[in-house]
Amino acid sequence: MELSNRLREIAALVPRGKIVADIGTDHALLPVYLIERGITNKVIATDINRGPFESARQAVKAKGLQDMIDVRRGNGLDVLFPGEVQAVIIAGMGGNTIRQVLADCPAEVGLFERLILQPMNDACDLRRWLLENGWCLIDEKLVLEADRLYVIIVAEPCARITPCESKPAFPYEILSEDLLLEIGPCLILKNDPNLSLLLRKLLHDYMVILEGLAKSQKTENKAKAQSVENKAAAIREVLGKWL
Ligand SMILES: C[S@@+](CC[C@H](N)C(=O)[O-])C[C@H]1O[C@@H](n2cnc3c(N)ncnc32)[C@H](O)[C@@H]1O
Repeated sequence: MELSNRLREIAALVPRGKIVADIGTDHALLPVYLIERGITNKVIATDINRGPFESARQAVKAKGLQDMIDVRRGNGLDVLFPGEVQAVIIAGMGGNTIRQVLADCPAEVGLFERLILQPMNDACDLRRWLLENGWCLIDEKLVLEADRLYVIIVAEPCARITPCESKPAFPYEILSEDLLLEIGPCLILKNDPNLSLLLRKLLHDYMVILEGLAKSQKTENKAKAQSVENKAAAIREVLGKWL
């Protein structure tokens, strides 16, 4: 099976020569790719559900890679021994599911050197959790595939390194912290090629939310609408002036 752009970009962020866990591996496409490309020589591929777990096992067996890819069934990080892997990939799940998987196992998480996360939604909540729990956002990447934008977030323990900085797309200080975490600070800092596409999509989503809120008479929804309107105005300013 051909590896998607999204999974190839995730693979490109895996540190070479480290032992990696792919949590929620499904068909084990990524572990097989990482081994076949020589990016690592040991992957622990896990899945909570029987169907994906069996698919992963069969895919690994079909390639004869059982010695290098250890397929395990279980919830999140429960199936890992502390210190067993240095890098962890969690891709294709909701941002809050990823957050929960990490929050559930603080002892294991504290030993990881790198997290490579690809949330399908709620990236803002996930970024906030990472920052509040001792992680630095060291890189982010937007991948466009079949008309859908995916974000990949790379985090490392704060004590080890400083976050990526290069040429910001615009003076990000004009954004509220909420909006900054919603967009992705590293995407702005490194001026990701798909950044304006992401901002246009966010603006579209805000308009849909505002339409819904406009129909409500509740006082709290008026405050919510104002906050969404403020975020939309900031994004319009960025798109109008800098992107
Ligand atoms: C949409 S698939 C993503 C597969 C692959 N990671 C990718 O990005 O293409 C999500 C997979 O995560 C698994 N999953 C969901 N919650 C999980 C959890 N708490 N622990 C382990 N696997 C989980 C599901 O069974 C499913 O196979």
